[in-house]
Amino acid sequence: MARDFSTVGVIGLGTMGAGIVEVFARNGFDVIAVDVDDAAVERGRTHLQHSTDRAVSRGKLTPEDQAALIGRATFTSDLGDLKDCQLVVEAVPEQLDLKKEIFAKVDGIVAPDAVLATNTSSLPVTEIAVATNNPKRVVGMHFFNPAPVLKFVEVVRTVVTEDEVFEDVTGLAQRLGKQPVVVGDKAGFIANALLFGYLNHAVSMFESRYASREDIDAAMRLGCGYPMGPLALMDLIGLDTAYEILDTMYKQGRDRLHAPSPIIKQMVSAGLKGRKSGRGFYTYA
Ligand code: CAA
Repeated sequence: MARDFSTVGVIGLGTMGAGIVEVFARNGFDVIAVDVDDAAVERGRTHLQHSTDRAVSRGKLTPEDQAALIGRATFTSDLGDLKDCQLVVEAVPEQLDLKKEIFAKVDGIVAPDAVLATNTSSLPVTEIAVATNNPKRVVGMHFFNPAPVLKFVEVVRTVVTEDEVFEDVTGLAQRLGKQPVVVGDKAGFIANALLFGYLNHAVSMFESRYASREDIDAAMRLGCGYPMGPLALMDLIGLDTAYEILDTMYKQGRDRLHAPSPIIKQMVSAGLKGRKSGRGFYTYA
């Protein structure tokens, strides 16, 4: 029988994780939201509050529905609280060793038939899976930022993912209002493999002073009809995350397009990580 996934866990409450918590809570699931310490947990809670406040002020959500939605999310810094989850989605920073460590721990906490998913966008899902004692229950479940808005999930199937696990996760993505696509375990999957060469090229145009940030973004927004320009999108994704994705794709043998433009690392070192830090290519209030 297909898993119903009534209680799900999310580990890592950064931009993606917090968005994924909102997606589940909006769709009626109980969510256990975990991060490493009280400050990170509080950031996750605040994110959900602010994001749903915005929806209320735009008349898209009633205050009663907001209260019910927030009530479905439990925030904690204890991984042990994930024990009753039928699915856990990991969304911690793109560092392989960190993800492997978390999967090894969670593998020992949840029930044997629970599904473990990683939201990684560039790291090998198979490597993460084999850090557990039960790799056949591990899949990739890659959401897009902002997760509550974009209706697309890449479901990554490794050579050992069990058929039922994969089918249940694909069905779940549909219940969340997302179109799932099936991809193999290759860095960048479909969307990022296509997107990040383009973003990196835009950064290098800016870095060489070939054109201004506004003009680069206007070219793609107004000239090509994209919802936002590449430098604004880098700020939305987060320059630290974008750097890690590019670096991983480059190291895994994709072409020079993915060698991260030097300015990305410099901006990250200087704390200019994009929207999340208040400044990236643009400054945010
Ligand atoms: N969280 C939740 N909801 C958000 C949001 C956020 N961060 N940002 C915007 N929204 C909601 C708004 O509340 C609004 O909702 P309603 O229509 O229900 O009122 C809706 O989205 C539209 O927002 P706006 O009117 O403010 O702005 P917009 O129409 O310009 O859309 C956008 C904003 C959705 C971000 C749009 O510009 C867009 O789709 N940009 C491209 C994003 C993109 O390419 N993402 C992929 C990044 S790559 C990735 O994620 C993969 C990876 O591994 C890094």
